[in-house]
Amino acid sequence: MKTTLFTKAIVRRPAQSLVNGLTDHPELGHPDYALALRQHDAYIAALERCGLAVEVLPAWEEHPDSCFVEDVAVCTRKFALVTRPGAASRAGEIAGIQAVLARYFRTIEHIEAPGTLEGGDVMMVGDSFYIGLSARTNADGAAQFIAHLARHGYKGQTVTMPPTLHLKTGTSYMEDGILLVDQAFARYQEFSGFDRIHVVPEETYAANCLRVNDFVIVPSGHPETLGALQAKGLATIQLDMSEYRKIDGGLSCLSLRF
Ligand code: GLY
Repeated sequence: MKTTLFTKAIVRRPAQSLVNGLTDHPELGHPDYALALRQHDAYIAALERCGLAVEVLPAWEEHPDSCFVEDVAVCTRKFALVTRPGAASRAGEIAGIQAVLARYFRTIEHIEAPGTLEGGDVMMVGDSFYIGLSARTNADGAAQFIAHLARHGYKGQTVTMPPTLHLKTGTSYMEDGILLVDQAFARYQEFSGFDRIHVVPEETYAANCLRVNDFVIVPSGHPETLGALQAKGLATIQLDMSEYRKIDGGLSCLSLRF
């Protein structure tokens, strides 16, 4: 059976300044830029294999984390949201997305100060959205987003966060009722109604997988998570994400899908 969730994606080429991207894991070292570019090529090819038309924005040297376009916008079927990143070094990135979104969306909403919200903290489950209250997304930003959602006929609810960068760092929705959860989210009551795949501690990074139409994109090197997804009957594509992992970037962070 064909599942069409998305037809388009927006990505941004990594800048050379990527090597200085924000990270909570300096022990992993700096990304190798040439390898990051090859991994980005493979990422775009995977999205195309999933059936998406991919718009590739140019690298933006001024913003080391700007390839993580997911954080500057949220795309729904009815409107797009320009966010207001909570990381000070990322605040300027929103200037690069408004005009791009305007080519695809008639309605564009915004998060205003003092609200902050990053797209990595937003998980879409059909017409419902979960919003992680992280160090990057505050209660005011979440409340503004929930109000926008309500006006467009959607529902939103906040989720208190463990010490994790973004909500989707630790949990991601695979459609068909299936939710990947890492150890931190395993006991969350709000997720108890899902068919949960518990990501083992050694594979925490794989809690961020990406369902795109008939495929799930999985970071390579996570055999238990891969096997669990395949056991659900899901077709998988594996991608090496080593260079993005060094600066806390996951599969979902690298694109906006709609
Ligand atoms: N390096 C990705 C982020 O911290 O936003």
